[in-house]
Amino acid sequence: MLILGIETSCDETSAAVVRDGREVLSNIVASQDEVHSPFGGVVPELACRRHTEVIDDVVFTALEQAGVQKSDVDLIAVVNGPGLIGALLIGLTFGKGLAYSLKLPLVPVHHIEAHLYASLMSHEKIPMPAIGLVVSGGHTVLFLMNSVGDYKLLGSTLDDAVGEAFDKVASLLGLPYLGGPLVEKLALDGDRNAIEFPRAMMKKGGFDFSYSGLKTAVLYRIKGYGKTRHEIDRIDEREKADIAAGFQEAAFDVLVKKSIRAAQKCGAETIVIGGGVSRNQRLRDMFEQAGDKKGVSAYFPTPRLCTDNAAMVAGLAYHKYKQHPAPADLTLDAHPNLQFIKS
Ligand code: KG4
Ligand code: ZN
Repeated sequence: MLILGIETSCDETSAAVVRDGREVLSNIVASQDEVHSPFGGVVPELACRRHTEVIDDVVFTALEQAGVQKSDVDLIAVVNGPGLIGALLIGLTFGKGLAYSLKLPLVPVHHIEAHLYASLMSHEKIPMPAIGLVVSGGHTVLFLMNSVGDYKLLGSTLDDAVGEAFDKVASLLGLPYLGGPLVEKLALDGDRNAIEFPRAMMKKGGFDFSYSGLKTAVLYRIKGYGKTRHEIDRIDEREKADIAAGFQEAAFDVLVKKSIRAAQKCGAETIVIGGGVSRNQRLRDMFEQAGDKKGVSAYFPTPRLCTDNAAMVAGLAYHKYKQHPAPADLTLDAHPNLQFIKS
């Protein structure tokens, strides 16, 4: 089954063609980093306008690169939440138009569930039950997964998402948008044990997370050098690298320990990780080291499937359609806070 996936939930316009839920024939991602970079974060109105400008090209390039015609496609998959409402509506409306004109089924896909599926589609067979962890710019969620579509929520962040904390710390350190990967790069030159930042809710809070205190601790550390941009820019490069490394270590320590604790509690031997932050090599190393000691294996998506992309959307839609085959519902709506797991 050939599925065309569309993803426009935030600041990436993406379309992909995937066969039978796994084989990626194309995966086009038009990033908007240069649009939002001058503002230090995503500007929803600008994101919507750019999606509208490029979606035609992105979808037709995905078909072209896959070497298929519109008429070869069996199903349209589109993200309908969570995300920016205007941005979601552009992909959803485009998908509806295609489904209507080609007389194809239209499968709505949950963005966070697709992030997790990115990891499943990157590996041959992942043992279940597994602990699922999604770490992105908007979400930090931990849950128990019995199979695709069968999840139980264990915990989530009470304030900032971990990717959001990376982006805010990057900005405090004077790094441009999109900061997460730049913090990782800077941390490579730092000593991760030089500064001990707080590990929030490590003992209490069950499986919930909190990242605003860690971000504030970094803010106070930096403020010690002065308040103006000029004073901050003059902080020693070595100190900046130590802050980045110490922050990253504290942020990931909580993720790794809580995920492994959840695996032990639920009797799972597998942890499946997805979302933009899962691209970080230090996170991968920490999961591997801790997992080896505790007999738990961690699975990550291939790097190009970590951040927002439509291949994970088309891949997941294959299973959704098999579970619930249905004709296109053209009254389908977008939901900025769409939920998919029962607590
Ligand atoms: O999943 P994603 O592409 O979009 C959302 O659904 O939010 O995740 C984007 C987030 C951003 O906060 C970005 O800074 C972070 O993932 N990110 C990283 C890395 N690559 C992307 N954070 C840390 N290290 C990275 N290498
Ligand atoms: Zn995402």
